[in-house]
Amino acid sequence: MEEMTKHGQVGLAAMRAGVDRKTARKYVQGGKLPSELVEPRNWRTHEDAFLEHWPELFAQRDIFVRIDTGAGRGHHQHVRTAGVYSKFGVPVADLEDFARLAHAAQARVIGLHAHAGSGIFNVTNWQQSALLLAQLAQGFPDARVIDIGGGFGVPERQGEAGVDLAALGAALAQVRAAHRMLDIWIEPGRYLVAPAGVLLARVTQLKSKGDVHYVGVATGMNSLIRPALYGAYHEIVNLTRLDDAPEQRANVVGPICESGDILGHERALPATCEGDVVLITNAGAYGYVMSSRYNLREPAPEVCI
Ligand SMILES: Cc1ncc(COP(=O)(O)O)c(C=O)c1O
Repeated sequence: MEEMTKHGQVGLAAMRAGVDRKTARKYVQGGKLPSELVEPRNWRTHEDAFLEHWPELFAQRDIFVRIDTGAGRGHHQHVRTAGVYSKFGVPVADLEDFARLAHAAQARVIGLHAHAGSGIFNVTNWQQSALLLAQLAQGFPDARVIDIGGGFGVPERQGEAGVDLAALGAALAQVRAAHRMLDIWIEPGRYLVAPAGVLLARVTQLKSKGDVHYVGVATGMNSLIRPALYGAYHEIVNLTRLDDAPEQRANVVGPICESGDILGHERALPATCEGDVVLITNAGAYGYVMSSRYNLREPAPEVCI
């Protein structure tokens, strides 16, 4: 097993270093890479490797290139999709290489794309992406679109301010005015659908360990993975006792055999009873579509009203 892993790593490193498949196989058989290929400066991004090794796939095609702007943003490390600690995109420093390979493959780079992360509220994120992509587009004569991604923060707590859409619109209008040849695309998927869905779950069990209280509900991370996966906050209310004042703080947990199966930490809830229905907000995105039969538990069904 160890050998297989080692050989796999050699193969992967060879591919990242941009060597052709035949040479990579030779390195795998030999079990190591020559030191000059192990130097980080010789590593290539996967996007480069695809273009270099399978140029025929891209010939005469219109393609977008996803660019790593260098600045990952968002509410948790797991949702930051730019910067050296994220696997996505072509770093700006490698873009010239990418352009050369795309040209050699006879691919037309018609769009430049960036997505810095999820749960972002600061408008400068998209403004900076737009400015950078517009500037970089000058190196791609066929470019006619810049796509500044998604990640528009959805307010999580009552009263929390959302993204300042007017300011965003104004900032993008300025970029557009300066680069009339470029269309600006955004990816607002989650922003639009997250608040449109809720998760309903019946309380199945109440439990306390000293001062720590648990409200067990009929479904958990198998229906809504975001809190377990990256600590996302979803407001939780006791629908059965909506008008009752909060009385205690409790962890709202699902039935899955994982301590991470928590929908909400230390939530203020009214005196709650078995059989009550709790409502978990903002479950319209990455909710049902990401649900699973983890632990052989059927996820909550989706009902569209
Ligand atoms: C390219 C791209 N666009 C959009 C998204 C989704 O962002 P969000 O759902 O936060 O708007 C992602 C998520 O990683 C992404 O990689």
